[in-house]
Amino acid sequence: MKVAVLGAAGGIGQALALLLKTQLPAGSALSLYDIAPVTPGVAVDLSHIPTDVKVEGFSGEDATPALHGADIVLISAGVARKPGMDRADLFNVNAGIVRNLIEQVASTAPKALIGVITNPVNTTVAIAAEVLKKAGVYDKNRLFGISTLDVIRANTFVAALKGKKPTDIEVPVVGGHSGVTILPLLSQVKGISFSDQEVADLTKRIQNAGTEVVEAKAGGGSATLSMGQAAARFGLSLVRAIQGEANVVECAYVEGDGEYARFFSQPLLLGKNGIVERRALGPLSAFEQQALNGMLDTLKKDIVQGEAFVK
Ligand SMILES: NC(=O)c1ccc[n+]([C@@H]2O[C@H](COP(=O)([O-])OP(=O)(O)OC[C@H]3O[C@@H](n4cnc5c(N)ncnc54)[C@H](O)[C@@H]3O)[C@@H](O)[C@H]2O)c1
Repeated sequence: MKVAVLGAAGGIGQALALLLKTQLPAGSALSLYDIAPVTPGVAVDLSHIPTDVKVEGFSGEDATPALHGADIVLISAGVARKPGMDRADLFNVNAGIVRNLIEQVASTAPKALIGVITNPVNTTVAIAAEVLKKAGVYDKNRLFGISTLDVIRANTFVAALKGKKPTDIEVPVVGGHSGVTILPLLSQVKGISFSDQEVADLTKRIQNAGTEVVEAKAGGGSATLSMGQAAARFGLSLVRAIQGEANVVECAYVEGDGEYARFFSQPLLLGKNGIVERRALGPLSAFEQQALNGMLDTLKKDIVQGEAFVK
């Protein structure tokens, strides 16, 4: 099993690489790439941790040495949000970075399962899909926008509010990965009921949790450690699915049947070749149905922006 992390010298990339070094199955390879010259050193640093995971690091303009033979590619390269910026402000810089890196994935590891972390995910995943399509290697079952951070935040906030163990809670989060497009399906959390006010407040907190971190870091960055954990959870689920484990289910932002929008985050059954089954959203409360209807214009605009960037 070989996992490549692109953007590996960044806040998310380093946290993710550490978690993968300690949690990938024995015999795996971890390949780190970032434009920053420190990257081979990040790999040397990690290589001193005594696990049976081989780490290599590459820097400079060329990502392909890191991509040869990769089964999974996780991309966090880009710029992160500063106070006053929203995810859309990141678009101009990050769109070009994702296009460039996906071109290299298309030529070097066209069968890899790809997880995009770089924001704005609603748009960068559409860019990735169009680049892969142009290269003739697009498989919609192999491309994911990683929205797991919304899920783990929802689990944490629900557990705190209701006095439960966070590890016992699993909130499906659907839609997209910014602002109003993030829709936690609180009505589906087993064994817990919420008042209308709690639903409204929790939904808002989950949607704005990124801003909570950006403001608390006071100009020093956005979510990196919790995102590292979220990306590791998602990446390790892909690993387990590739290895043949049954019933691996994660929510992620993927191209579906277009019922709501071309790309939409929903629960997915994962297997050796990526998505095996896109699961239906299930019954929605009136609040959730209204939030779903209300997000679609925004989500579709985000997607069109990505499609237009590549054409
Ligand atoms: N999906 C999510 O839930 C989520 C959550 C938080 C942050 N993010 C996004 O993840 C991205 C990374 O955030 P971060 O906090 O790690 O930022 P960071 O600035 O700490 O790291 C980004 C890294 O990308 C590298 N980089 C820049 N251009 C590159 C290129 N062309 N090729 C290779 N590497 C390049 C930089 O050298 C840097 O090491 C941002 O776009 C951020 O908005 C996503």
